[in-house]
Amino acid sequence: MTQTAALVVAVILIAVGAALGQTRADLQTDQTKIKQGASVYAREGCAKCHFLAGKGGNSSHSLDGVGTKLSVEQIRVVLLTPEARGGHQKPAKGMPAYGKLSQTDFNALVAYVSSLKTLGMPR
Ligand code: HEC
Repeated sequence: MTQTAALVVAVILIAVGAALGQTRADLQTDQTKIKQGASVYAREGCAKCHFLAGKGGNSSHSLDGVGTKLSVEQIRVVLLTPEARGGHQKPAKGMPAYGKLSQTDFNALVAYVSSLKTLGMPR
């Protein structure tokens, strides 16, 4: 009986440990992706038009805090079809589409943009 209980506890501990390890690994991947996305942002010249953390183009096109305003899906849509946004979102007139990026670069860019949660504080 006690042996069974000990076994159950052991199994639970192993499962929790594995879950925690997984989360840590995921976080690390996210951080790597966000960093990669920041260099895609720089390379693609988003700052020519967009203002971020006190730097870059037109301050009326600020991306400060955009990660709290738009969902990951909305960020994907604007990057793929900037001029075709509907609803209350104004179309991104003149913004190039970024579907030509590699899948890795595109996903990293989306992760970066959605990480911009705080005004003027890109990660
Ligand atoms: C030629 C100018 C131009 C370039 C280059 C550009 N954008 Fe934009 N973008 C715009 C305009 C104009 C809008 C319309 C909304 C606005 O006024 O901010 C917009 C909108 C957006 C939005 C939605 C903002 C919101 O608040 O709804 C995101 C996100 C965005 N751009 C990300 C990017 C990223 C990331 C890049 C680089 C890969 C980029 N843009 C490059 C002009 C540009």
